[in-house]
Amino acid sequence: MTYSLLLLPGDGIGPEVLGATRRVVEWFAQVRNMAFAMAEAPIGGIAYEAVGRPDPDETIAKAKAADAVLFGAVGGPKWDTLPFDKKPERGLLRLRKDLGLFANLRPALCFDALKDASSLKPEIVSGLDILIVRELTGGVYFGEPKETTTLPNGEKRAVDTQVYTTHEIERIARVAFELARLRSMRVASAEKSNVMVTGVLWREVVTRVHAEEYPDVALSHVLADNCAMQLVRNPKQYDVIVTDNLFGDVLSDEAAQLTGSIGMLPSASLGAKDANGRSPALYEPIHGSAPDIAGKGLANPIACILSFAMCLRYSFGRIEDAILLERAVDRVLAEGYRTADIMQPGMTRLGTEAMTDEVLKALGGMPR
Ligand code: NAD
Ligand code: IPM
Ligand code: MN
Repeated sequence: MTYSLLLLPGDGIGPEVLGATRRVVEWFAQVRNMAFAMAEAPIGGIAYEAVGRPDPDETIAKAKAADAVLFGAVGGPKWDTLPFDKKPERGLLRLRKDLGLFANLRPALCFDALKDASSLKPEIVSGLDILIVRELTGGVYFGEPKETTTLPNGEKRAVDTQVYTTHEIERIARVAFELARLRSMRVASAEKSNVMVTGVLWREVVTRVHAEEYPDVALSHVLADNCAMQLVRNPKQYDVIVTDNLFGDVLSDEAAQLTGSIGMLPSASLGAKDANGRSPALYEPIHGSAPDIAGKGLANPIACILSFAMCLRYSFGRIEDAILLERAVDRVLAEGYRTADIMQPGMTRLGTEAMTDEVLKALGGMPR
């Protein structure tokens, strides 16, 4: 079985962390008897430079055809003033939409060695293992109208539209409940049903799906602003958090910091299963292109490497290999190796490449 992997490095630190991850993929090919057909394509700002748009049709077509997509990051100050439809971020958003990647899994796990690396007290974050399930193809990201018009008085008026339909909420709720059954059987659903009609519908639908299909799972509802506060007060009260596209974006960056750094948090974006049980899938770190450190070899590659572990688990069913990779990362951290973003006194500071060397060394030394 040869797996086709499309690599989309993108901009800023994207190529740096994806280059590191490619070395890890190659290790699995050589040592773990897996066969990959790897190809690369342009996306984001770099694609805009090459062909005048951030979302080339050929790249989207290749992504649709691949078994899985590994994505770096897009965006940067150079492209911030481009017209909206030319912005690098459109490339990523079109991939999500065109591949139907409605379920975004963002696990926030605090490795034991990093419990002192977080800006929060160690007792708050130690042992943290939560999963944010973010709806990824709806909500205010894609709702119409989405436009800027000029009013008769010359003033400008910009509109984004938050919109959800029943089936969009049902399917993401099911993903969250199914995953909770494999974890601690608890789901917290976060919305703003106190001020948004989409929030009212969200709560109604999640409540019904729970009652009809998942009564064995404990469901709680939390207003999204309170959820943001609870995440820094007592994050371990949560197991699975299911929420909409925008709240999920914000809450997952917040959760990332609980793990020590945004450079640690991987993600999987999955679509509906086909008749053969296979989903379209894209794996990416949740961080961006980090223009402030791009090109310096400083980026933490772990979020991207752990995204490949999610690919092994969710796209290839190679659970043991996924665990192997996660344990190798755990060991490297336990041995005191750190990139700058998670550096602590007395630890060994490494750049992107040297950190990847250590992950590969640890993989080689893991019991298998
Ligand atoms: P960012 O995630 O790029 O950076 C935020 C901070 O975290 C920066 O200080 C950065 O140096 C640090 N950081 C991020 N990843 C790191 C890593 N792997 N190792 C060490 N430090 C890391 O967010 P931003 O600055 O708000 O956005 C920069 C650009 O990236 C924007 O154009 C934005 O649209 C884009 N963006 C892209 C994605 C994506 O492609 N998935 C995600 C978020 C932001
Ligand atoms: C993320 C990013 C994206 C988002 C941007 C780059 C489109 O912030 O993946 O978290 O807002 O979803
Ligand atoms: Mn984000």
